[in-house]
Amino acid sequence: MTAARPRVWVSQPLFDDIVDQLAAHCDVDAVATVTEHTPAAVAAALREADGALITLNERIGATELAAAPQLRAIANVGVGYNNLDIAALDAREVIATNTPDVLTETTADLGFALLMAAARRITESERWLRDGQWQQWSFSTMLGADIHGSTLGILGMGRIGQGIARRGHHGFGMNVLYHNRSRLPEAVERQVGARYAGFDELLAQVDHLVLVLPYSAANHHIIDAAALAKMKPTATLVNIARGGLVDELALADALANGRLAAAGLDVYEGEPAVRPELLALRNVVLTPHIGSASLATRRAMVLLAVDNLAAALGVGPHAGHPPTPVTARKTSIAITGTAGAGKTATGTITDITGAGKTATGVITDIAGAGKSATGKR
Ligand code: DGY
Repeated sequence: MTAARPRVWVSQPLFDDIVDQLAAHCDVDAVATVTEHTPAAVAAALREADGALITLNERIGATELAAAPQLRAIANVGVGYNNLDIAALDAREVIATNTPDVLTETTADLGFALLMAAARRITESERWLRDGQWQQWSFSTMLGADIHGSTLGILGMGRIGQGIARRGHHGFGMNVLYHNRSRLPEAVERQVGARYAGFDELLAQVDHLVLVLPYSAANHHIIDAAALAKMKPTATLVNIARGGLVDELALADALANGRLAAAGLDVYEGEPAVRPELLALRNVVLTPHIGSASLATRRAMVLLAVDNLAAALGVGPHAGHPPTPVTARKTSIAITGTAGAGKTATGTITDITGAGKTATGVITDIAGAGKSATGKR
């Protein structure tokens, strides 16, 4: 018989005081030091787990799932979830969740910080000063590009994109253009002060372009040599989304050869490795994937992920209803039954088919008269 309390794997050290909340309902196996887990190590860690709290470092697909027969829930601590194979999770009816909303403003702040640092040559200036190269104030030192009154482009107009648009339009009087899979309702466009543009128009018109779209195989290297060639040579490119959106060699080449003025990057295709071609350039600001890294926001992300995980496992205050699911299955099935593990029982499915409806299920993880169980239809 499997354990009555769900077993949970926590892949990286997060905030202990928040993760400890899981211990009220679950047996928690938390990794104590920052660890680069191999795929085999992830599979081994999930072998007996009912749920996992993971970060973008851990990839979960069909192979890992095949090694994890009990797995029912994955809570990703992050809004982007390209580390998860959603089709494979859906096929296994595992619930996956992410952490949207709580990080929107913090990540938009970082996007704007990178934009300003790159366009106004902040880090380049500082290195130059620290190197003792500032001999005399001069009119032509570190001339950059204006932010205020310029044209800002946003590729990907979800919550973070809208946050950047608001900052640009309301804070800096920018003319804001955006391109997105679907156009925003006009009322939202008015509110954030942005106008829809075609992809090529966006590239050609903007003085600064910020990438905020979720990564998928379909938009791999959406900013490649051809896209860069359509941009103004005076333009700035900022990427706070995922490294795979940009052909980094083409970007480094454009920056090195005066076909793009500056870039600000928080994400990299092979992170934590950063290409030497980028490291060698003075006109690119590089940060180590810190978009959501304020203390308050990182705590809020872990809190939401813990809430999601408990709920997806059918325990805690939101049992059965994780706040922010990303898989097709969005609710867990809690069957109240009285059978032994593995036995077929008649129970009450409390959520998937509607609260209070009766259905037949198979108890998969707990037994004993009068006890609550999580089961499969
Ligand atoms: C996210 O949330 O997707 C970030 O990239 C990780 O902080």
